[in-house]
Parts: sequence; C-alpha cells; structure tokens
Amino acid sequence: MKLFDNKIIIVTGAAGGMGKAIVQELLNEDATVIALDLSTKNLEDIQHERLLTYETNVLAEENIQKIVSEVYENYGKIDGLVNALGIAQAATPVEEVTLEEWDRLLNVNVKSLFITSRAVVPFMKQQKKGSIITIASISAVRPRPGLQTYIASKGAAESFTRGLAIELAEHGIRVNTIHPGPADTTMLGKFTSNGGDIEQTKEEIFRKSVPLGRLIVPQDIANAVSFLLSDKAEIITGSTLNVDGGRGL
Ligand SMILES: NC(=O)c1ccc[n+]([C@@H]2O[C@H](COP(=O)([O-])OP(=O)(O)OC[C@H]3O[C@@H](n4cnc5c(N)ncnc54)[C@H](O)[C@@H]3O)[C@@H](O)[C@H]2O)c1
Repeated sequence: MKLFDNKIIIVTGAAGGMGKAIVQELLNEDATVIALDLSTKNLEDIQHERLLTYETNVLAEENIQKIVSEVYENYGKIDGLVNALGIAQAATPVEEVTLEEWDRLLNVNVKSLFITSRAVVPFMKQQKKGSIITIASISAVRPRPGLQTYIASKGAAESFTRGLAIELAEHGIRVNTIHPGPADTTMLGKFTSNGGDIEQTKEEIFRKSVPLGRLIVPQDIANAVSFLLSDKAEIITGSTLNVDGGRGL
C-alpha cells in the first residue's frame, strides 16, 4: 500500500514550481489531489484520474468555501491541506515600499492561509483527524536586506501555523510549517532588485548562501511535505522543518 492510498489532499499554488512537484509526489503515493491555482495551465501535462484542478484565486473566499464543501460532499473527508502558494517581493528599501505592495504580500501570503484553513478545519474536526502544512520560508528567521515585507509575511505564516497547531491538537489535527531555503523555481528570480541580473543574483546571493552548496529543488520540498502529511509524522505538530541546505544556520 502506498503512503496516501485513499487520501484526499488539497494543494494551493499547485501549478507553481514546488506545488507541481508536491502534486506529482502525492499522486505517485496514490492520493487524490485537489489542485488550486490562479492558472492550472502548468498542470495540463499531468493527466491523472485522481487529479482535480480548480482555477481560482485563493483569496476568493466564497469560492474556496464552495470548493472545500464540494470536496467533502464528494469524498466524505479531507485528509490534508498543503498551502504552497505565495508571491515574492523584489528587493526594495523599506521607504520605497508602498502600502499597496505591503497589503498585496500580506494578503496573498497570510490571509490565504486563514481562508483555506478556516474552510477545511470544520470538516477535519468532524473526522478528528487532519494534517495541514504551510510553506513559509527560511527568510523568516534568516532575513535578507530589502525583503522586509515578504519576510514579515512568512513570519506571520509560521506564527499562524503554530497558533493553529495548539488550538487543533485536541481535535487530532496536526499543523506544521516548512521553511524552504532558496529554491530553483521561477519565484527565485523575482527576489532580484529592479534592474538587477537574475542569474547573477541566483548564483552570487542565493546559491552561495546555502552551506550544502546547491539550491533547493522542488522535489526536496515535495519529500518533506510527503513525510509531514503522512502518518509517519503522527506525533509531529507545531514544528517547523527547515529544508534549506543549512541556510538557517
Ligand atoms: N522559490 C524560493 O526560493 C522559495 C524559498 C522559500 C519559500 N518559498 C515559498 O514556497 C512557496 C512556493 O513557491 P514557488 O517557488 O513554488 O513559487 P512559484 O511562483 O513557482 O509558485 C507559486 C504559485 O502560487 C500561485 N498563486 C499565487 N498567488 C495565488 C493566489 N492568490 N491564488 C491562487 N494561487 C496563487 C501562483 O500562480 C504560482 O503557481 C511560496 O509560499 C514561496 O513563498 C519559495
């Protein structure tokens, strides 16, 4: 039997660099995956009877409630939620960051977690079981200049996750955070300051910052998600797993 045989798992940001690897890993382990993203085009090459895709903004609260309710009605349970969506901030001095940019980052990177978690928790409480994972960032504890707003959002993401972990433990629901280090997805280039060289930033700033000597790849994150979601991690909640090649040291 595979790790997620007969498990129903919702993934946000599912068409992103990490999201897609997570979707593929969960499908390989026999899960049914409900994949949410603004655009699901990047998932079109995965043709699988256990993959359901929804194109939606995760901030569209009513839509998320509706999708989650439909999933529960159709399958009678929701085993897992993986919050893998997110947006980056181009490195910017704090005095140049607009209120709109602050709100946009906090809304997407934090409010989305509230919306998805609030939608699944009532069903997980009925089951007395569930696992929620949020992809935050090692930058929350090992910051870099110019990324203050993104870093604030990821700190909030980790704190929210820990808050949920203590609140939901008595209901058998586990809630954990993963802090990726710099990862080789399209997002990484978006941290480059305006006008900066993306490839040079990736190599000079990011790769060289990883003690183990290479960028994190999406499969590294998918492996960690798979472990934390599964019953192999049944006594782990409120934890933060750094998948960062030692960047947090
Ligand atoms: N790439 C890195 O270096 C790095 C490092 C640390 C943490 N992270 C975090 O890991 C997670 C995944 O990042 P990634 O590298 O795969 O990025 P990515 O840009 O490849 O994927 C992010 C996905 O989220 C989706 N998305 C964004 N806003 C959305 C919304 N409102 N509704 C629905 N979908 C939305 C995007 O369409 C995209 O497919 C993010 O939370 C990111 O902050 C990334």
